[in-house]
Amino acid sequence: MHISWNPPSISPLPPGIITLDDHERHAEHMLGAAAHAYFAGTAADGLTHAANRQGWRSLTLRPRVLQSLTGGHTRTLLQCATLHAPLLLAPVAHQQLAHPDGELASACAAAAMGVGMVVSTLSSIPIEPLAACLHDSGGLPPWFQLYAQPHRDDTLALIHRAEQAGCAALVLTVDAPVQGVRDAERRTGFVLPPQKQPPHLADLPNRPWPASHAEAGLCQGVTAHAPTWADVEWLQKQTSLPLWLKGVTHPQDACRAQDLGIHGLIVSNHGGRTLDTMPSTSRLLPQVRAAVGADFPLLVDGGIRRGTDVFKALALGANAVLIGRPQVFALANAGARGVAHMLRTLRDELEACMALCGCATVDAIGPEHLE
Ligand SMILES: Cc1cc2nc3c(=O)[nH]c(=O)nc-3n(C[C@H](O)[C@H](O)[C@H](O)COP(=O)(O)O)c2cc1C
Repeated sequence: MHISWNPPSISPLPPGIITLDDHERHAEHMLGAAAHAYFAGTAADGLTHAANRQGWRSLTLRPRVLQSLTGGHTRTLLQCATLHAPLLLAPVAHQQLAHPDGELASACAAAAMGVGMVVSTLSSIPIEPLAACLHDSGGLPPWFQLYAQPHRDDTLALIHRAEQAGCAALVLTVDAPVQGVRDAERRTGFVLPPQKQPPHLADLPNRPWPASHAEAGLCQGVTAHAPTWADVEWLQKQTSLPLWLKGVTHPQDACRAQDLGIHGLIVSNHGGRTLDTMPSTSRLLPQVRAAVGADFPLLVDGGIRRGTDVFKALALGANAVLIGRPQVFALANAGARGVAHMLRTLRDELEACMALCGCATVDAIGPEHLE
């Protein structure tokens, strides 16, 4: 059955936006104070978020000169699909709070740039039109990020919905059993408007959170029912889709997931939005890579804002990276065009960094390119 979707609006890119940080600064004026607190916010004192940013910046590059760059490109293979650059849009909830086109604009941008997209359980727009948009625009099928539900029937309903929509993978988020301490949201009194409840949850038979929880704060009813390793094993039996875990940072947890036959891991501290004072992902990634070996699929996110950051993540063993907040800042600034500009900027910067370090392809990037 063909699912129809409305093409997103075309807005001009506001003048003066060149970098991802420009997008972030400009978005502060585009988002209201409460939405800005939600999207830009961190847990507690924001130390982990700051460490994520600083972690990539403080790594220094060791270029090799006089390497042949003939035929160079940024393409990479992930789950047998070709990404035009080693980038995926991270699952970021409630994107219609940033722009009326919401995740549809992000999907169009991902398709235009040939990169991946992970759709949140808490997406403002259902998975079916997003998958149709990606398909019809020549993009890659989406991955579906799963928050395990209090009732297993509801979790199953979400899995089946993702499978039927044509998703290429399931990503179970395991680092947010409860919501982090979100001071900025509380200061601005941020509350998800009742008409913006995520459709994937609104459609579930058991309606996961009571109204009073929804009023008290985002996703508390969802995250109060944290999955365990037993749920992961149960989940594996329910789907034929590749299962990824997002938010694994301890080498022992990584090995346990690998032993269970998990397809891949996303090394993530949720962009510093859950547990403050965790180490940066640039410190955690090499530990996880060492634990799982060279060939196990590993992605990373948190604080990646420059092509040099992407390069360093690959040098430390990631196969690709996910981009969180910059996608909603760019979305707020210029809808689909903004997100495409953000992705294009990262890809161009990565390409420049690769050429300057003497790497014609992403496979040529290694730890020897870091000091
Ligand atoms: C506003 C916002 C909403 C998010 N929603 C989700 C979500 O629904 N599911 C999830 O697994 N991660 C979610 N994340 C975390 C991102 O997927 C990602 O791990 C993080 O943003 C990466 O850090 P960065 O923002 O510095 O790039 C969210 C992040 C932000 C900023």
